[in-house]
Amino acid sequence: MNILITGGAGFIGSHVVRRLVLNYPDYTIYNLDKLTYAGNLENLKDIQDAKNYNFIKGDICDKVLLQSIFDEHKITHVIHLAAESHVDRSITNPLAFIETNVVGTSNLLLAAKEAWQDNYHGKKFYHISTDEVYGSLGDSGFFYENTSYDPRSPYSASKASSDHLVRAFYHTYNLPVVISNCSNNYGPNHFPEKLIPLCINNILQGKELPIYGKGENVRDWLYVEDHAHAIDTILHDGKVGETYNIGGHNEWTNIDLIRLLCDQLDEKLSNEIGASQKLITFVKDRAGHDLRYAIDASKIDNELGWKPSVTFEEGLSKTIDWYLENKEWLENVTSGDYANYYSKMYE
Ligand code: NAD
Ligand code: TYD
Repeated sequence: MNILITGGAGFIGSHVVRRLVLNYPDYTIYNLDKLTYAGNLENLKDIQDAKNYNFIKGDICDKVLLQSIFDEHKITHVIHLAAESHVDRSITNPLAFIETNVVGTSNLLLAAKEAWQDNYHGKKFYHISTDEVYGSLGDSGFFYENTSYDPRSPYSASKASSDHLVRAFYHTYNLPVVISNCSNNYGPNHFPEKLIPLCINNILQGKELPIYGKGENVRDWLYVEDHAHAIDTILHDGKVGETYNIGGHNEWTNIDLIRLLCDQLDEKLSNEIGASQKLITFVKDRAGHDLRYAIDASKIDNELGWKPSVTFEEGLSKTIDWYLENKEWLENVTSGDYANYYSKMYE
């Protein structure tokens, strides 16, 4: 396989790149990333010199570049992760999301179609999406693969648009596509604008932990390496034209999650019991804040034999340990632009 991975310098992408580079020395991996604020080559330091790994700095909105990558490297598989990914940023700047998530995905689909020229044998275009396209659940029920789309933020609407385009290319041109929709990920290398790493960073700095509204919103959390394993499974065994939901069967209200995080960190830092919980501060709610996400992941379990391997307590503990051991990473990504973002958003 000659695999083009887009967004491989980001949070999930870097775990996918590492897994494929290390587990499949016969495959050649091309990581195409624009290196926005969220892309960071430090995430891939350990494998950057591997023989089967190549980095290309570039934008999925650049059609000429995409065409040359497909032609020059005889790309056979695409794993498309590049995206603008933060809901709060989509509320302040929706156009950036439409540009990368909708236009960029369309460019990539067209580049694959043109390069593969109807010769689809041994080819796959794998689009990585989110459970947020399904909208917001009440107190009960789950998202299934056939749940109707009902996106409610500019981020989820742009991801829903890209999913529709991917399916349209399958139905119209027979492009061999597969899609997965995953729940919230957490783990090492998570950019500290997202809830878990933001709170870890704030606790380390003795800063308030901003919880939107009453902290009653529910997310279904999956350890990022379990997601990378699911992506590996779908790349190899996922059926063309199919959609797979990926989730952790692991629902937490934000407030309960942050209390657990505070307690685990206090124990690791030998703080007084309850010290970090004192930093919890309820702040103005996010506009249009989806109440609950919960994935039914039985299809991928029954058909492809994937299930999460890490419990939330274990995963959270490993995540905290990683941040404690990688304070330099945290300092590098929180200096500069991030400091401006933080003060505009929270202060
Ligand atoms: P991220 O924001 O950490 O990383 C995105 C990466 O894409 C960055 O490296 C960035 O530089 C790159 N990028 C952005 N715009 C680009 C462009 N125009 N051209 C090339 N590269 C570009 O995101 P993430 O959390 O790793 O998410 C990766 C994918 O998984 C996204 O498609 C997201 O929608 C999806 N997803 C994320 C989660 C989650 O919890 N984080 C859950 C389900 C699905
Ligand atoms: P986030 O990590 O941004 O992921 P998503 O919005 O894609 O689910 O947020 C997770 C949950 O945490 C979500 O309900 C919003 C909430 N949240 C806060 O309460 N405070 C914060 O500072 C952030 C970033 C998120």
